[in-house]
Amino acid sequence: MHVAIIMDGNGRWAARRGLPRTAGHAQGAKAVRRIVEAAARAGIETLTLYAFSCDNWGRPAGEVAALLRLLRRYLLGETRYCAENRVRVNVIGRRDRLSPDLLRAIEFSERTTAKGSRLHLRIAVDYSARHSILQTARRALSGDASGEEMEFLRLMDEVNHSTLATEGVDLLIRTGGEKRLSDFLLWECAYAELYFTDCLWPDFDANGLDQALHDYAGRQRRFGRLPDAVDAAL
Ligand code: FPP
Repeated sequence: MHVAIIMDGNGRWAARRGLPRTAGHAQGAKAVRRIVEAAARAGIETLTLYAFSCDNWGRPAGEVAALLRLLRRYLLGETRYCAENRVRVNVIGRRDRLSPDLLRAIEFSERTTAKGSRLHLRIAVDYSARHSILQTARRALSGDASGEEMEFLRLMDEVNHSTLATEGVDLLIRTGGEKRLSDFLLWECAYAELYFTDCLWPDFDANGLDQALHDYAGRQRRFGRLPDAVDAAL
């Protein structure tokens, strides 16, 4: 099962406490640790987290720097835990605008956890689904790619620096009360079930994830076909 999460609400969590937005992001990073543990326990195979979008560069420089610092610290601090718990880390997104420090942390984390097979943790950094689809289409047109969907997906993995084959998202969770996709995994979410919660990301915990999984278990996925019962009766 592939679960993807738009971790929204850090800023509001901080504002409600009279704290700077960066304190919300720091608290959000703690929630990431909780949810990674909970996801592994729940048997989720792939977890993709939206940490920093291409559009996030438009935030104030101080907030951007704090977010990227936090990411680097997270990668350096959590790699050991991930390796010990068979969590394979992969940072997806653009790499051409990240600092050498952050790139080194990404490479270190991916290398050290490469054998992890319990949970694939994908962290989207400088990520834009539209950008990745556009780049993939450009590559497909310029090379001798067959034009088949599998080949397109392989190119998309290259563009995204994905060390694992692109797979469809089964469940997309967005915290923080907004109901939009914000340029996240647009291709992969073609048949995703969507789950929105008002809970702000720093407050999201294992119970929140369980609720989302419970809700998902009650959905009937048809992928454009008829429900099984109807299908069989025809
Ligand atoms: C959206 O909340 C959240 C982000 C733009 C950043 C998400 C980052 C983290 C959860 C922490 C770092 C991540 C990792 C993987 C260590 P917002 O700031 O837009 O909140 P608001 O809508 O309340 O203003």
